[in-house]
Amino acid sequence: MSERPERWFLAVWPDARVRDALVRQASGAVPRGARLTHPDDLHLTLVFLGELPPVRRWCVISVADAVEAKPFALEIDRIGHFARSRVLWCGPSSVPDALLGLVRTLQAGLVDCGIPPERRPYRPHLTLARKVSAYEGRDLPAPVHWPVGELVLAHGVSGARPRYRIHRRWPLSGPGG
Ligand code: 2AM
Repeated sequence: MSERPERWFLAVWPDARVRDALVRQASGAVPRGARLTHPDDLHLTLVFLGELPPVRRWCVISVADAVEAKPFALEIDRIGHFARSRVLWCGPSSVPDALLGLVRTLQAGLVDCGIPPERRPYRPHLTLARKVSAYEGRDLPAPVHWPVGELVLAHGVSGARPRYRIHRRWPLSGPGG
């Protein structure tokens, strides 16, 4: 059966070292009955794009091509819970300006692709597990230092595990940020 792309998004993706550190620290936090994220699927979404027909995909690619941003670091130091979506996540308690700047740059460019900025406040996170009904937020036993050096365009594949595929990568190497 051929893979049908669905749910596109721009994201940053941890490398194996960061991913393993997150999995190690989070393993004790995931309650019984939760649907654990496959380790290869751990990522932090910058902009959710939804369905992306080819013409619009090329537009998104040209927006990302034009991004000039420097690498930056994230300190993943918090585990929390989104009650409505029943998502257990980890993320940075303090959001670096470089991350917000990158998200804003992308959002501004994507308007020309017919993708309006998300109205909800940006809550950077990596989904650790789903179907978690309740969880008291806490600090990670030790923060995970994540040097972010690239931006990716990724999409989901319905029914697959791991679920996400990276379609394209852009190194963060520009003078801005
Ligand atoms: P989540 O893990 O908290 O669900 C692919 O679905 C990626 O886009 C995930 O990181 C998901 O976050 C994020 N995302 C952001 N907004 C979304 C939306 N409205 N619907 C689905 N996924 C969304």
